[in-house]
Amino acid sequence: MPLLALPPPIVEVKNLTKRFGETVVLRGIDLAVQRGTVLGVLGPNGAGKTTAINCLTTLLVPDSGQATIAGYDVVRQPEAVRSLIGLTGQFAAVDEALTARENLILFGRLLRLSKGAAQHRADELLKQFELIDAANRQVKTFSGGMRRRLDLAASIVVLPLVLFLDEPTTGLDPRSRQQLWGVVQDLKAQGITIILTTQYLEEADALADQIVVIDHGQVIAEGTADELKDRVGGKFCELRLANLADIPKMKALLADMGELITGELGDEGPMAIAAPDGANTLTEIVLRLESAGIPLADISLRRPSLDDVFFALTGHTT
Ligand SMILES: Nc1ncnc2c1ncn2[C@@H]1O[C@H](COP(=O)(O)OP(=O)(O)OP(=O)(O)O)[C@@H](O)[C@H]1O
Ligand SMILES: [Mg+2]
Repeated sequence: MPLLALPPPIVEVKNLTKRFGETVVLRGIDLAVQRGTVLGVLGPNGAGKTTAINCLTTLLVPDSGQATIAGYDVVRQPEAVRSLIGLTGQFAAVDEALTARENLILFGRLLRLSKGAAQHRADELLKQFELIDAANRQVKTFSGGMRRRLDLAASIVVLPLVLFLDEPTTGLDPRSRQQLWGVVQDLKAQGITIILTTQYLEEADALADQIVVIDHGQVIAEGTADELKDRVGGKFCELRLANLADIPKMKALLADMGELITGELGDEGPMAIAAPDGANTLTEIVLRLESAGIPLADISLRRPSLDDVFFALTGHTT
């Protein structure tokens, strides 16, 4: 049977390398992004995410390798590339002394919209990003979440073919993060191809069709969130005891079932144990604790988190 022919990727990166002096930051990155999809580039501080984005958006020239956007080469055809992309950088590009509306109009004018068209687009974006009430306030009075929204709005004054978002939600509270996720999903629904970097595993999980995990300038894994989780294999049984005093007894009772994994909260938080037999493992734990008279506060099965994946791949957490 013939393989289904996929259209060529809209973003294609082959063996991209970049060094700063002696420091090798990108060690041969390969990426392929299909039109209309979201690629999540996941990696810890210093992994090379911003450097990769900067190479793809023509802000940096790579040392070797190749990258194309819609077939245009980022090194040899930078103007063509720039006309097709939008970028929300890791650090805000908007002018603090101007109002939100003035900023958006300025971006429109820089992109050669007429005055009327720039004003019209600014008002549309203020509405879409829930910034109407703050439209005429100077940006320096904005909260972090409002700035990120304005920054994102500024990068889509003219809808790009490919939008790059470098850590769009770093430093935001959960509500602002959710709001931004909604905006990214809307943009995807409009057919925009999105490449976003993040240190947050849940963010890649929530938004990305495909994820590449990078560490020390290399792609160490790629796939959908589910595929990556499957690589760790199996499920985990997560439990919390009603009384912390029972923990030593519980540990002894379950010692033969595998290592107990504790999280950030240590013994005070939930603990997990690999559950190769799924519900059977859970039942076994419930029975053992019940017959020993140890009450549970909570017990459940969960899939491995991307945190577990990252740990399994690198031996360290994000
Ligand atoms: N202009 C530069 N000169 C020298 N070293 C640099 C330069 N830019 C980045 N680096 C180094 O390259 C490495 C990767 O940096 P990069 O900013 O790409 O990481 P990142 O994945 O975006 O990290 P973060 O999550 O902190 O934003 C780091 O070790 C950084 O110190
Ligand atoms: Mg960065």
